[in-house]
Amino acid sequence: MCGIIGYIGDKKATPFLIDGLRRLEYRGYDSSGIAVINGGISVHKKTGKVSELESKLPKKFEGRCGIAHTRWATHGGVTDANAHPHCSSDGKIALVHNGIIENARSLRNRLEKEGVKLRSDTDSEALVHLIHREVENGAKPLTAVRRTLKRARGTWGICVVFEGHDMIICARNGSPLVIGIGEGENWIASDTLPLQSLTQQVIRLDDGDLAIVTSDSIQTSRLDGRFTDSEVTPLDDDWGEAELGDYPHFMLKEIHEQPEALRQCLTGRLDIKDGNARLGGLGLSSKKLQKIPHVRLLGCGTALHAAQVGRLVIEELARVPALAHVSSEFRHNNPVIETDAIHFAVSQSGETADTLAAVKEIQLKGGEVRGVINVVGSTIARQCGKGCYIHSGPEQSVASTKAFSNMVAALSMFGIQIGRARSLSREKGKRLTTSLQKVPQLVDQYLSNPGPIDKVVKAVKNAKSVLFLGRGISAPVAREGALKLMEIAYIPCLAYPAGEMKHGPIALLEEGSPVIVVAPNDSLKDKTVSSIHECRARGAKIILIHEEGDSIAEEADISIPVPSTDPMFSPMLTVLPMQLIAYQTALALDCDVDRPRNLAKSVTVE
Ligand code: F6R
Repeated sequence: MCGIIGYIGDKKATPFLIDGLRRLEYRGYDSSGIAVINGGISVHKKTGKVSELESKLPKKFEGRCGIAHTRWATHGGVTDANAHPHCSSDGKIALVHNGIIENARSLRNRLEKEGVKLRSDTDSEALVHLIHREVENGAKPLTAVRRTLKRARGTWGICVVFEGHDMIICARNGSPLVIGIGEGENWIASDTLPLQSLTQQVIRLDDGDLAIVTSDSIQTSRLDGRFTDSEVTPLDDDWGEAELGDYPHFMLKEIHEQPEALRQCLTGRLDIKDGNARLGGLGLSSKKLQKIPHVRLLGCGTALHAAQVGRLVIEELARVPALAHVSSEFRHNNPVIETDAIHFAVSQSGETADTLAAVKEIQLKGGEVRGVINVVGSTIARQCGKGCYIHSGPEQSVASTKAFSNMVAALSMFGIQIGRARSLSREKGKRLTTSLQKVPQLVDQYLSNPGPIDKVVKAVKNAKSVLFLGRGISAPVAREGALKLMEIAYIPCLAYPAGEMKHGPIALLEEGSPVIVVAPNDSLKDKTVSSIHECRARGAKIILIHEEGDSIAEEADISIPVPSTDPMFSPMLTVLPMQLIAYQTALALDCDVDRPRNLAKSVTVE
């Protein structure tokens, strides 16, 4: 979603701001804009790509302080006027905003009644005029921002610059902001990615914080006016390579990073001798694990699918009820929370508003939530306090790939850990840990010989719809395959547990309808074969993802074998062809693979 970058220091601001905007592109956006101070404030904004904004900038667009923004439309259409920064009527204050101001309508109405001419349809613009009002009435910039935010309801990450003041004022409530600390220069950004190559030290603002940032000082305070000492934390230096390198797209790069990402996730956490796994950050003793009544996992999109795999592994290995919930539903269904239960919030970005809201709901009712998160120091990770990082490294393609695999790996380790604390034998634990440790190598093996993906692309690219089927642990993999193809190739897809297909979706099938079936070598395979026969009898074309060497291949029109592993860990292999099918189909249809229309990488609005 929207992205913010700010710079103040002894160098030219524009190159930092444009580079920062480029690094924020992955979040998803439809317009961008930039403001620099050089005597007065100069602003440029433009719908479309950052490159279009850059090409429109005057040759001399200089200043040593500036703010910039990528916008993902929520209030008002995609227009130059709605792009940020927004300016006060005299042009002496400029502001960028992430989040949603819920009482924007009434604030805008009041401003209009007072004679302010609004130039955009956005909620954000109201803020800059309110700040201006306060300044006109004699308030200093920080007081003006603070008073304005006290009148606003909703979420914000904002940066504001004032003509004649060498500083940026920023504030956070529900939309992350990180201050990167340099020598004689400082940066502000909505996530750490644009800061990776610039600094090793950051201050992460908390909700309700404000900060005055100059080139050599950072002063933080709270909305109530109290000054605070903010903790300086190191940027995670294991974060890995965030550049495209030789790959044409981040999605392909991230698919191929899976073996290494999985190794990062598993390293140091598997105890093969004892047949156990240890996720120390969870802070869960064996004693506690023995007593818990149930496990609940929360997530959205791909993270939800990983949670659905995880819940099956946990239930199977620990013989404890485990459920996965859609975060946005969970939160609003007045859930009963058992304080002894274990809750997991599963999220790549750690910023997803729906999951964050579900976490708060559980905490409000006295429950504990642990994060299964990729981005270190993200809002959900901090809100949970405890948890386990999945260590995928930066994921920049909007379509999530390597985070799915690592979430599944992390939850599988938890399944082993809780299983061993309960009734899982050491012998079985040894078999499982040995086989889990081999998964990265098997993923590598598959990716070097991925099978006839091009044939699948031909079969699906012009299809009216594609049906995905799987049973048991493969049902969430089928859902993940459908989500991937839908979100980046815009093909309507339906995913169903294979046995449920005959209760409705079978009506869709006609001669040549593509059906992608996930059938690893598990106890449900024969049942899946029956579903394949039912599809074939209606003329469907069967694309079958199965274990190498399995005779089930005979059931396929297009067979895609994946290396053999314990059925419980098969999702980390069977998902790979799904990712490649989506990627190659999107390419064949000339879609913007890394930045699919209407989508955002981290969805920070509910
Ligand atoms: C799909 C995708 C989204 C995310 C979802 C949750 O490829 O990327 O469905 O999985 O928005 O995001 P996180 O994991 O950041 O909470």
